[in-house]
Amino acid sequence: MAATEETLGRVPLFSGVKTKDLKKLGKRMQERGFSEGDTITMEGETGLGFFVIEEGNATVSRNGRIVRSLGPGDFFGEIALIDKGPRSATVVASTDMRCRGMTAWEFKPFVEEHPDVAWGLMETVVERLRAAEAA
Ligand code: CMP
Repeated sequence: MAATEETLGRVPLFSGVKTKDLKKLGKRMQERGFSEGDTITMEGETGLGFFVIEEGNATVSRNGRIVRSLGPGDFFGEIALIDKGPRSATVVASTDMRCRGMTAWEFKPFVEEHPDVAWGLMETVVERLRAAEAA
């Protein structure tokens, strides 16, 4: 099995993070398994986790309508952690999934230490905002 830092290094968001920092990140991010059909985030509810997908797929729904599917290398859960507001969408595992999860209190210091990760998050959040506006 690949070392945790190798797996995390393949996540585009973390592509600029040095190996020694990926090792630290691997210790902060707990492995989380989900079964097909599990609801991981629920639109409108509070949430404390940020997740990257290592294996499997999930659907993202807003107002009961599927807007995106996510797969290996994608991440979700950043929006409620950034503004401490409710989850903006419901994320459901469409297959069994293996993810890595980080808590809100670990997420902020990690992002503050890594400006390239902050920029990557902004790019994705803006892309998701534009998609939401166009829907
Ligand atoms: P958060 O609002 O914390 O919880 C639900 C997550 O779904 C959200 O963070 C994003 O990570 C993700 N999400 C919301 N809208 C979209 C979208 N249009 N495309 C992809 N992912 C989305």
